[in-house]
This record gives sequence, structure tokens and C-alpha cells, in this order.
Amino acid sequence: MPNVALVTGASSGVGEALAPLLATRGWMVFGLSRRAVSLPGVTSLQADIGDAAALDRAMTELLGISDGRLDAVLHCAGVGGAGAVESMPAERARRIMDTNFWGSWNLCQATLPALRRSPRGRLLLVSSIAGHMGIPFRSAYCASKAAVIALSDSLRLELRGSTTQVACVSPGDIATNSIATQYRQPAAELDELYRERYRRADDAMAGNVEHGMSAAFVAGEMVKILDKDDLGPHYVIGAPVQKISTLAQRLLPGRAWEWVLSRYYG
Ligand SMILES: NC(=O)c1ccc[n+]([C@@H]2O[C@H](COP(=O)([O-])OP(=O)(O)OC[C@H]3O[C@@H](n4cnc5c(N)ncnc54)[C@H](OP(=O)(O)O)[C@@H]3O)[C@@H](O)[C@H]2O)c1
Repeated sequence: MPNVALVTGASSGVGEALAPLLATRGWMVFGLSRRAVSLPGVTSLQADIGDAAALDRAMTELLGISDGRLDAVLHCAGVGGAGAVESMPAERARRIMDTNFWGSWNLCQATLPALRRSPRGRLLLVSSIAGHMGIPFRSAYCASKAAVIALSDSLRLELRGSTTQVACVSPGDIATNSIATQYRQPAAELDELYRERYRRADDAMAGNVEHGMSAAFVAGEMVKILDKDDLGPHYVIGAPVQKISTLAQRLLPGRAWEWVLSRYYG
């Protein structure tokens, strides 16, 4: 019986690259997203991860096919979003939190009972470098990804003494459709105080993503993490400057770090 993996976010970007990659390495792979996926060697499961009941139904389907086995969960599903704290519709911010944080929470609850039965269970939660810091006009996204980091850190400690290992993966910019498909508050809706800096920050973000790492590269790095015998708590995937940024954020005095970020985002 091959090892069984669940890859979320398999209809686009990193998940779409990762699911067939695992299949070529002999895994039985299930790809979950709201849209159906048609990828070589991947069984499609459809669910909104913000909907715990829908996720439970997808898990029942998976376990029916895999004979009750689940050895790895690679949680790539997530959404971004941009706007000003003062005026971004709360409903938009809530949707980001529902998908990124509550989706991760639901996924842990839906998969851990099966994952813990595996002799080598692995759970990789995808956060972001943006989860390590507050980026202007990305507050809801940064907060949701910071929450994923905290969730992962807590869960690791809770699972001590079990055969299940958890790690949080924080990538930098990846050239996927994520910017094109996410909500970005129209600049005209922002107060004049913010408008010009919002435009600059949003352009910088879109440019960084466009020239970011390939989804295939990130998928390859995640497979390397999955293969490790002993998972560390955090893995940052990105250009050296992005890797250093998570360290600098912790080490620099607060105002010095703000100055660095404001130079970067305008
Ligand atoms: N792109 C970047 O620059 C970047 C940087 C750092 C971190 N990340 C993180 O890395 C992960 C992968 O990013 P990506 O750029 O590959 O994303 P992407 O191309 O935008 O794809 C997102 C995936 O998540 C799925 N998804 C979104 N909402 C969902 C929901 N409610 N229920 C189920 N599935 C849902 C989408 O499928 P459906 O729409 O079919 O549901 C899609 O398969 C995300 O967690 C993202 O936040 C991305």
C-alpha cells in the first residue's frame, strides 16, 4: 500500500505543482480545492476548507478510498487580499481569516485522527513570510498567516510523544495566480491619506509576486521538508533577502524594522 497524501489548494499554484509531484514519487495523492482538479495520479476532492462539514465529507471519501490511511497533509490552500484597515470591508477581511486560519483549524480537526494512526504522520501548514510581520495594506492576510504560525507552534507541542510531526512553511513571493484572483480594494475607496502609498505598495506586491519563485520550485522544497526524519518548527522558502527578513524582524529594534519595511513598500 503506498503512502497516502492530502494536498489542499490543488487546483492552482503550489498545490497544483505539488500533488502530481508526490504522485510521481509513488504516493497515493488526493487533491482538495473548491474546483475539481484533473491532475495525473491525483484523486480530486471538492470542499471549501472554511466549511468544516464539507471538509469532513471529503475526508470520509478519502478514507473510504485509502482504506482508512492518511500519512501526510500538505496544506497549500489559502487566499490573499489587500486594503486599508480603516476602510476594507470587514466581510472581505473575515473571508481571508475564514480560509487561512479557520480553514487550517478545520483541516487539523478533520485530518488529525487519521494522521495520528500513521506510523509517520506529517502535517505541513503553509503560512507566509508575511505571517512573520505586518505589511502595509495586507493586514488581514498577515494576521491570518501569523495565526497559522501560532496554530502550528501550539499543535507541535500538543503532539509531543506521538508519531505525527508538524511544521510551518513560510514562502516568500511565488509567481502564481494569487494576485489576480484575490480581492484588492479599489484605490479610489481609500482616504487620500493612504491612496498614493496604497498604490505603490500594491504595485510593489504585484511586481514581487510576478517575479517570484516558481510554484514548482516551492513544491520541490516542500517535498524535501516532507522527506526529513525530524521536522523543525519553521521553514522559510525564498530569496536570501526574504529569509533574512524574518530574522531581522525579530532582531532589529521595532522602529528600525519599520524603517526598513517602509523603504521597501514605499
Ligand atoms: N503566491 C505567493 O506569493 C505566496 C507567498 C507566500 C505564501 N503563499 C501561500 O502559499 C499557499 C499557496 O499559494 P498559491 O500562490 O499557490 O495560491 P493560488 O495559486 O492562489 O491557489 C490557491 C489554492 O487554494 C485553494 N483555495 C482557496 N480558497 C479555498 C477554500 N476556501 N477552500 C478550498 N480551497 C481553497 C484554491 O482553489 P479553489 O479556488 O479551487 O478553491 C487554489 O487551489 C497559500 O496558502 C498562500 O497564502 C503564497
